[in-house]
Amino acid sequence: MNRFANQTAVITGGGNGIGFAVAQKLAGEGAKIWILDWDASLARKAAESLRAKKYNADYISVDVSKEADVKAAFDRIKNDGGCSVVLNSAGIVGPNGIKTAEVELEAFEKTCQVNLTGSFLIIKYALHLMLPQKYGRILLMASIAGKEGNAGMSSYSASKAGVIGLVKSVGKEYAESGITINAIAPATIMTPMVEKMESDQIKYMTDKIPMKRCGQLEEIANLAAWIVSKESSFNTGFTFDMTGGRAVY
Ligand SMILES: NC(=O)c1ccc[n+]([C@@H]2O[C@H](COP(=O)([O-])OP(=O)(O)OC[C@H]3O[C@@H](n4cnc5c(N)ncnc54)[C@H](O)[C@@H]3O)[C@@H](O)[C@H]2O)c1
Repeated sequence: MNRFANQTAVITGGGNGIGFAVAQKLAGEGAKIWILDWDASLARKAAESLRAKKYNADYISVDVSKEADVKAAFDRIKNDGGCSVVLNSAGIVGPNGIKTAEVELEAFEKTCQVNLTGSFLIIKYALHLMLPQKYGRILLMASIAGKEGNAGMSSYSASKAGVIGLVKSVGKEYAESGITINAIAPATIMTPMVEKMESDQIKYMTDKIPMKRCGQLEEIANLAAWIVSKESSFNTGFTFDMTGGRAVY
């Protein structure tokens, strides 16, 4: 398939994990890729590894929670020819394996700044770029934690519930614009983010998955690619399930 020929996709958090998996998938189907990541070294390596496969890829060092960074990145992308796809996969897990009475305010706020404020900023500047062209696909990464709340991860769960609410609202606002805004809510996918978590927290999350396994990067990349393709034209404001049966709504 070559669903993204002549299209450009911007992928935040593309230096690692789910973002990089989706970057590889979209590049393989013809997209030019912009990797945006606050870890410049990861972003450069991701872009280089795509170019080594003869794909078109570049990177920008961006902290998605900083408006100046996000605005400057989208200005540069616009001057380079724009984009039709934006995936916001940048995120942090924040405090985990810890109950709320022990969570530091600073850690709570940081988690919300990256996961929720970052989602808002990416949507805002993606819309500025996409509205004049009357076409676009914006995809955010929410989480099962935002639907159900994971004990021991209240900051993360709250930030991801915010992402789900954001997508519902913005999807409705721009439903007639040619731009769709959706999210995916995964259960556990084994990535560097999960590998860094407390082992009891990982067990708590994976035990709840009826398929009794973690999701795989290829599975999430396949769903993401469909949502951001032209094929997905009657879906907006929705949070798609990716939980091996944990969420049935
Ligand atoms: N892996 C899972 O099980 C899982 C489950 C549900 C939701 N998610 C969500 O999917 C997204 C991707 O997760 P992952 O598992 O691939 O994580 P990951 O840690 O493997 O990759 C995240 C990437 O985002 C980058 N990043 C973090 N904060 C950033 C910021 N402020 N600005 C720019 N880049 C930043 C990191 O450098 C990293 O390259 C996250 O939003 C996460 O919350 C993951």
